[in-house]
Amino acid sequence: MPAQARTEEPFNTFLSGNYAPVSEEHVAPLLEVSGAIPKDLNGHFLRIGPNPVFVPDVASYHIFDGDGMIHAVQFENGQATYRNRFVETEGLRLERAKGTWIWKGMAAMGDLVKGVPPPAEGMMKNTANTAMVYHNNALYALMEAAPPHRMTLPELDTVGEETFGGKLTHAFTAHPKVDAVTGEMMTFGYSPIPPYVTYSVINPAGEIVHTAPITLPKGVMMHDFAITEHYSVFLDMPITFDFSRAMSGGLMLDWEPQNGSRLGVLPRFGTDADVRWFDVDLSMVFHVSNAWEEGDEVVVQASRSLRTDISRATENAGKSMDMSDQLGQLYEWRLNLRTGEARERHLDTRYHCDFTRINDDLAGRRSRYTYAARFDLKHDAMFDAALKYDDVTGAIQVHDLGPGRFGGEGVFARKDGATAEDEGYVVLFAWDEARQRSECVIIDAQDFDGPPVATIRSPYRVPFGFHAGWVPAG
Ligand SMILES: [Fe+2]
Repeated sequence: MPAQARTEEPFNTFLSGNYAPVSEEHVAPLLEVSGAIPKDLNGHFLRIGPNPVFVPDVASYHIFDGDGMIHAVQFENGQATYRNRFVETEGLRLERAKGTWIWKGMAAMGDLVKGVPPPAEGMMKNTANTAMVYHNNALYALMEAAPPHRMTLPELDTVGEETFGGKLTHAFTAHPKVDAVTGEMMTFGYSPIPPYVTYSVINPAGEIVHTAPITLPKGVMMHDFAITEHYSVFLDMPITFDFSRAMSGGLMLDWEPQNGSRLGVLPRFGTDADVRWFDVDLSMVFHVSNAWEEGDEVVVQASRSLRTDISRATENAGKSMDMSDQLGQLYEWRLNLRTGEARERHLDTRYHCDFTRINDDLAGRRSRYTYAARFDLKHDAMFDAALKYDDVTGAIQVHDLGPGRFGGEGVFARKDGATAEDEGYVVLFAWDEARQRSECVIIDAQDFDGPPVATIRSPYRVPFGFHAGWVPAG
């Protein structure tokens, strides 16, 4: 078909190619292995993403809108089993029952101020499509505007929304942090109306034991935060909610640089009055890699971009424009709690990356290695390599996925009996464009730029998605 004719049909990057959703669920052993699956890799590799069942409007579909689907590879003694399941949310159930869409997703964000009533079924759909966390022997599928969904392993059955005994009073970030030393899970939710942020601590038994509202000058999209041994760190970045902007024809959620960028440090069990705010250079952070304490300083490392047009992701997709100032690079802030000074620096000016991960056992403690997905600057919203950053030597290792092969978030999976920080594997899904097939790639984290330990072909396509997770066996 000529390219001209194609542009007249509704097109959306995030519904096309390997972004296109899949409709079937499967359970199958993965038998086509190049290399060998390590016998000391035991547990579940999980990857969640938006997989819409009903799309109200192809042209305006936003990547945030799709229904959550989890793709899993269970590793057991050198064998691998694939499963994919929808998160069976109430919203998806209602849409299936109706046989069509009910919620318009991001496109509906400005409707309320324009007097368009929300659907009778509720303000929004909890899509449960963004990330997962494992805490207190439970797996949760997360979406930052709503409560978590509890899931089972290995079946990936949906148990339902988790309210923590009715104590959860706020939305729940897709990026809660589990302190592996204490077993506590720190979380927060943000809102377009005050309190703009509410923070909670969940004890190792899964009970909410502390909740505190946090004051911000304005409601912002706060996608992630950080923890250290004694503190939680909030990211007040200038992607703001603005009802009056929406009333006058602008976007409800938009980049507003005059709002500035700040990091707020709160003692783990502190309240609003205890937050210490640090002004930092104008920037946007979606994903933190880690944070820790060094003397008087709180050190935060993250993928940081100069700005973002996330609300316009759909309209900008596929356009030949320089997006590099919207793509993150690994960066560090040092916040001095004694002097109030904030220092900051680039950790990498060569590559653009996102999906920063560490060995999760070190969340909130000094970590040496960060893993990330490298943006392919030639292809929109695609990742062509995995990166390993060494914070001690400054070395950056590249695991190139090869020509026409694209990845996503790689997660660090500890080897059985590991003692060193990087003694394990980085596991990710890759898409081979030429062969039109999905693979699970296992990289030895200590031989990062060497060939993969194993490349496992999946008979079923795994669409590009959001975040990955690792749940060790036992
Ligand atoms: Fe995220």
